[in-house]
Amino acid sequence: MEQYYVIKGGIPLVGEVEIGGAKNAALAILAAAIMTDETVTIDNLPNVRDINVLLEAMAEIGAKIHRVDEHTVKINGSQIRELCVEYEYIKKIRASYYLLGALLGKYNHAEVALPGGCDIGSRPIDLHLKGFRALGADVSIQHGLIIAEAAHLKGTHVYLDKVSVGATINIMMAASMANGKTIIENAAKEPHVVDVANFLNSMGANIRGAGTDVIRIVGVEKLHATEYSIIPDQIEAGTFMFAAAATKGDITVKNVIPKHLEATSAKLLEVGCEVEEFDDAVRVVCSKPMRHTQVTTLAYPGFPTDMQPQMSVLLGIAQGTSTVTESIFENRFRYVDELTRMGANIKVESNIAIINGVPNYMGARVSAPDLRAGAALVIAGLSAEGITVVDNIHYVERGYEQFEYKLSELGARIEKVCSEKDIQKFKLKVS
Ligand code: UD1
Repeated sequence: MEQYYVIKGGIPLVGEVEIGGAKNAALAILAAAIMTDETVTIDNLPNVRDINVLLEAMAEIGAKIHRVDEHTVKINGSQIRELCVEYEYIKKIRASYYLLGALLGKYNHAEVALPGGCDIGSRPIDLHLKGFRALGADVSIQHGLIIAEAAHLKGTHVYLDKVSVGATINIMMAASMANGKTIIENAAKEPHVVDVANFLNSMGANIRGAGTDVIRIVGVEKLHATEYSIIPDQIEAGTFMFAAAATKGDITVKNVIPKHLEATSAKLLEVGCEVEEFDDAVRVVCSKPMRHTQVTTLAYPGFPTDMQPQMSVLLGIAQGTSTVTESIFENRFRYVDELTRMGANIKVESNIAIINGVPNYMGARVSAPDLRAGAALVIAGLSAEGITVVDNIHYVERGYEQFEYKLSELGARIEKVCSEKDIQKFKLKVS
């Protein structure tokens, strides 16, 4: 059933919002949880679609999944009977590739359907495969499956030609159960790389250097039970911080690690917002017109590509001409046409968006082209004059838990509806 967000914009968002666990850390941690035969408890799990799809796929291959509550799960991987993950929906989530590293590390054999995920450009996995091969695995692609197997995995030295979050984590997982020492050079430094390393270490792995560009892993024979709480989601937090700015509001995002939000906070300060940091919260206040700036997406600690569409939405209503350069994925400006329908003045030249700020957006019917761009269009709708309807919100639900509820709690007029009739009803209600 198609669902839509319908939004009456122009209301400053005010209040406090609790941020959930990091989706991208959770996806890797869940996969890694099957690397022991003992029971692992994972807490602060975001209850979003990508997570639930991965858990279903893990159950399909024999992992015991016990959902203690919405945000806590117990996983036992002792009865995994199937090393081939072909579950239909798994192709739709990018992070299914983490099952390769996890199964290969534990069983020396893994077969996983080639991953899908958001269409934000070509998303090769050659670096993951390069790492598995360096660890001694034979890797081939047959009938849409990636097949990796080894008599045993052997510690190695891998240099990643490009900084890749997925490849760093995947190689780290497999290497944590290989014989001997592995060194990953030019590793990704994202907070979720550190979180996965901490999780594996809490299961008895021996990983040092996560968070720097050289990670050293000494393989262990066995991993054991653990209880682990996932770090807060820096992208969910950043999205609410930008919603505060775009609506001229005042939002405190709670349960965050402010250090992980530095790049996001820096850009808010540059455009003229106030940002106040607390131990585990950040407050964003925007009371003045925003100014133009320049942004380039980069690997952590640079400005995150997953905040790029939200950044463009802000700059679309900031005074002057801004540029946004996308250096990670080549197809990440697909939302620009949608934003143009709301009155934005943006020209894309290769990987640069040149944005001439307009005074404000006008409500329109738009379609979410992917997860983060979908959230960005919601922000545009919240700041716009009039009514915005966002289609294809299943993308947004892949990564935002109770998005419309959390926004409503901040004063937004937003509803999730499933028919044209409901859209009309909403319009009558708010007019
Ligand atoms: C992860 C995140 C995604 C985020 C991205 C960058 C998950 C599930 N997704 O994606 O939300 O946007 O990090 O922060 O955690 N590359 C290669 N070969 C490879 C792997 C990557 O060339 O084998 C390239 C990619 O095309 C891209 C760059 O490296 O240009 C970075 O990609 P990567 O960090 O791997 O992104 P993901 O892990 O897929």
